[in-house]
Amino acid sequence: MQSPKDFFKPLAVGAPEPVRDIPFRPSRMIHFFPPSNAKMVAKVPDLAPRVDILLGNLEDGVPASDKEAARAGLVEVGKTVDLGSTQLWTRVNSLDSPWVLDDLTTLVAEIGDRLDVIMIPKVEGPEDIHYVDRLLAQLEAKAGLTEPLLVHAILETARGVASVEAICGASPRMQGLSLGPADLAANRRMKTTRVGGGHPGYLVRQDPDPDDADAGRTVHQQDLWHYTIARMVDACVTHGILPFYGPFGDIADTTACEDQFRNAYLLGCVGAWSLHPVQIDIAKRVFSPDPAEVAHAQRVIEAMGDGTGAIMLDGKMEDDASCKQCKVVVELAHNLAERDPELAAAYGF
Ligand code: GLV
Ligand code: MG
Repeated sequence: MQSPKDFFKPLAVGAPEPVRDIPFRPSRMIHFFPPSNAKMVAKVPDLAPRVDILLGNLEDGVPASDKEAARAGLVEVGKTVDLGSTQLWTRVNSLDSPWVLDDLTTLVAEIGDRLDVIMIPKVEGPEDIHYVDRLLAQLEAKAGLTEPLLVHAILETARGVASVEAICGASPRMQGLSLGPADLAANRRMKTTRVGGGHPGYLVRQDPDPDDADAGRTVHQQDLWHYTIARMVDACVTHGILPFYGPFGDIADTTACEDQFRNAYLLGCVGAWSLHPVQIDIAKRVFSPDPAEVAHAQRVIEAMGDGTGAIMLDGKMEDDASCKQCKVVVELAHNLAERDPELAAAYGF
């Protein structure tokens, strides 16, 4: 058992004090790049101003033969490329891999002051976060870092989902969670072969017509990910951390990508991964509140005065609770507008 009094003490002598709150920074897209690919790395300076977060990926998608080159490439980016106010994250290899120890020791020592968040894949339970928490404190102390690195876990195993609340609350470093639909589908033995998105076989069908057995019946495709995303959002909000949707693998299907991102946005996620430049603009559009919605929310807030009571506006009832919903939208709009002058103009701020 850990006393609440100890929760905010550094886990190694000389390590920085743990954070007490996770600051909200615009995080509409986590753009993945493979740091072992020189052509992709050359594009990083141009990409940086277009995205909220750049992530150097060391895990899945990087062949075993390139693991060391990817790690070295990320160190080089961290040391040499000016990313402005764009966050720099990494996804290290999984905790059961032979690479992760060198990933963490090298990255913290070399570019620990440049990295904002370390993404840990395939997190199964709070014990995985405790391991990373202590190790990072030791490495931070050794490197003389003054700010603690934050940790983001990918929810991509059945046990991870079953332990999601405990994972979110395992350390003050926990910054957020992403849904990893590909690994999660494999681990759960779901019979899908896609990276995220829906499946035409997962549906409900209208009852048959009792008078006409051959009459057509409407079918509605259901959302395979609804339960997991909703559960992830509740766990994250409970612990004051941020939920994200993960990858959408069908790069050409920008419409379905936008649908998947929007479902996540509406359920409470703050952003999603972008795996290709076409997904950057989709995430920007989806995870930024619509200007008309912001204008409506501002009208409700203004009409509600001190935010208590009930009023009628355009034939609809508004009260304390709907006013709070509107404040969520307007607060997000202001946060994003600080980073995005085009949005600020669209919102009229
Ligand atoms: C992401 O890592 C996934 O497995 O979907
Ligand atoms: Mg994965």
